[in-house]
Amino acid sequence: MKDSPKIELHLHLEGGAPPALIRGMAREKSVDLSGIFRPDGGYAYRDFWHFLSVYEAATSVLQTPEDYARLTTAVLEESAANGVVYCETFLSPDFCGGGDIGAWREYLTAIREAADAVERAHAITLRGIITCIRHFGPERARPIARCAADTAGDWLVGFGMAGDELKGQPGDFRWAFDCAREAGLRITVHAGEWGGAASVRAALDQLAPERIGHGVQAIEDPALVDRLAEDGIVLECCPGSNVVLGVFKDWPSHPIERLRARGVKVTVSTDDPPFFGITMASDYENLTRHFGWDDAIFADVNRTALDAAFCDPATKKIIAKRLGETQA
Ligand code: HPA
Ligand code: ZN
Repeated sequence: MKDSPKIELHLHLEGGAPPALIRGMAREKSVDLSGIFRPDGGYAYRDFWHFLSVYEAATSVLQTPEDYARLTTAVLEESAANGVVYCETFLSPDFCGGGDIGAWREYLTAIREAADAVERAHAITLRGIITCIRHFGPERARPIARCAADTAGDWLVGFGMAGDELKGQPGDFRWAFDCAREAGLRITVHAGEWGGAASVRAALDQLAPERIGHGVQAIEDPALVDRLAEDGIVLECCPGSNVVLGVFKDWPSHPIERLRARGVKVTVSTDDPPFFGITMASDYENLTRHFGWDDAIFADVNRTALDAAFCDPATKKIIAKRLGETQA
């Protein structure tokens, strides 16, 4: 499955950090991160909420634009090795630049330059989506949205929200989302990973995103499933992430195929692959093993992802060719 071309719309840049890279940077900077690693070298966490704090601890060693360039190179090379030809990554000026626009521009430049170099070598294209972090609160989201608006363009294409969806209401972040939308950014919101169908409804009603990060708990509410299908809302499903974190107890219980069968636009992504010990190729293998997905279904899902991608039409034409489509 490594060779088939894939599109990934939901990947947190820091969440793609190989543990060896973070361990090495911690050593270089004399930061003690021993508590976040298992004896076998992988990341150690007990549950989703502990995962969020381990994620933030790992991110603490990414302290300069050069660190983010190294991170981007490592993440994209791994994605390319899994057949990914186009990727949208979540970035947060909370983690790079501390919300300071001057610093954020330097980080953005470093990330873009690293991504351009990997694109020349491996034919994989990256675009960025700035996310505010829900559990950091709406006040913190304002400077993040300003960073997003000030750097919106051909590369920085979207604005979203990650973090703990059990904190606050999506509408608390309306100012930030209005600011981003006015700058031309496209919108995606994490919901329905842990907050149930009600959280998906709240995100749709209060922030009107065109894509939902996860969204899979919508399966609890048949009327909401119908609404997603009718309105063409795209779900950035991350089934391997959900199974490892325990949102669903195993692969057969995951609703991605039931949602697809009901006409919902589903796509496949890995979220934070080294944290979960997964890859795009392993998720594709599990989708085939547990739901019988074949080449035709994967082609369909990747076409849905390309249609839902936030990049411009010229870029989509290039990506369509990489998917092996004869006409874009
Ligand atoms: N959910 C919410 N926030 C996140 C995640 C996730 O899966 N990964 C990194 N930040
Ligand atoms: Zn996510």
